[in-house]
Amino acid sequence: MKDFRSDTFTQPTEGMRKAMYLAETGDDVYREDATAEKLQRIAEELTGKEESLIVSSGCMGNLIPLMIKGGRGMEVLCAEEAHIVRHEIGAVSSLAGTLPVAIPSDNGILRPEDVESNIHGYAYDMSETAIIETENTTSGLVYPLSTLRSIKDIAEKHNLWVHLDGARIFNASVESGVPVKDYAATSDDMTFCLSKGLGCPAFSVLSSTKEFIKEARRLRKLLGGGMRQIGIFAAAGIYALENNIARLKEDHEHRAAISEALASTGWADIKISSTNMIFFTSRYPMQNIIKAFRQRGVLFLEDAGMGRIVTSLNVTDQDTEDTVRIIKEIDEKEFLS
Ligand SMILES: Cc1ncc(COP(=O)(O)O)c(C=O)c1O
Repeated sequence: MKDFRSDTFTQPTEGMRKAMYLAETGDDVYREDATAEKLQRIAEELTGKEESLIVSSGCMGNLIPLMIKGGRGMEVLCAEEAHIVRHEIGAVSSLAGTLPVAIPSDNGILRPEDVESNIHGYAYDMSETAIIETENTTSGLVYPLSTLRSIKDIAEKHNLWVHLDGARIFNASVESGVPVKDYAATSDDMTFCLSKGLGCPAFSVLSSTKEFIKEARRLRKLLGGGMRQIGIFAAAGIYALENNIARLKEDHEHRAAISEALASTGWADIKISSTNMIFFTSRYPMQNIIKAFRQRGVLFLEDAGMGRIVTSLNVTDQDTEDTVRIIKEIDEKEFLS
């Protein structure tokens, strides 16, 4: 099968598995796991933040900052498309007790003027803006650095915290050439995922100030994320940061080839094509299209009413070539049922 469902379906490679096998471990709740500590130090180097903490998932990496800086009577400003709004089971409100103010954006990229006009200061009868959330990449799109800088300036002017959901920050960096550190500098805390394009079986990393991470460590425990011999997974993370960042370029090239083939058909209308993601609509029911491709061994999903194709470590040059051929050959009559 050629698997374009998500970059979360990647499998640890042989090199990664070897690194995991050989990992030095200890009880991480007592901070005795040398491999976990090493991964956190590498994350600090990459992000330029004071301290880092391994968290179990991207969702946890988003939730903890909302719990620390949000809370009852507080708001987080984010895009309507934000992962915290659409795909995290409402944890922003149910667990962090924070009101998400989801504002219209350019496919997930906030416009600074809209951010500023939606900020609520103190009022006796209104919730108050505490956090601005950016997501980079968002649906595969890379935030312009200048936009992120403008948002950070607005946040500073209004004394607000900026959380960056950088689940795919390395895709953004490889595509734009902007160092991760520069993106990180437009936030007060940021999280990135190891378990997506970087190919690890688990984990994200949350980075910020020492004071913030001290509190984050307590909340991680509260949420059931205090884990023990996590060096086995942290070793996969170190391996990925050392070996799997530059290769994301290949995923982006595969996406571009597939996008070009789709655009040449009469039945697919590309809405977004960037980094490792394609979103497209069609006059045919998307589930019929998905079924026809599945019968030819090509897997992808529907998301927000669109076809979503994601390239990753799972997809080889040969898979890409074969998929391009299948896209060109497929008879659209097959999409009728
Ligand atoms: C932008 C973004 N943020 C956060 C997450 C959550 O990551 P996890 O599935 O590891 O909880 C995802 C997952 O796909 C994501 O795409």
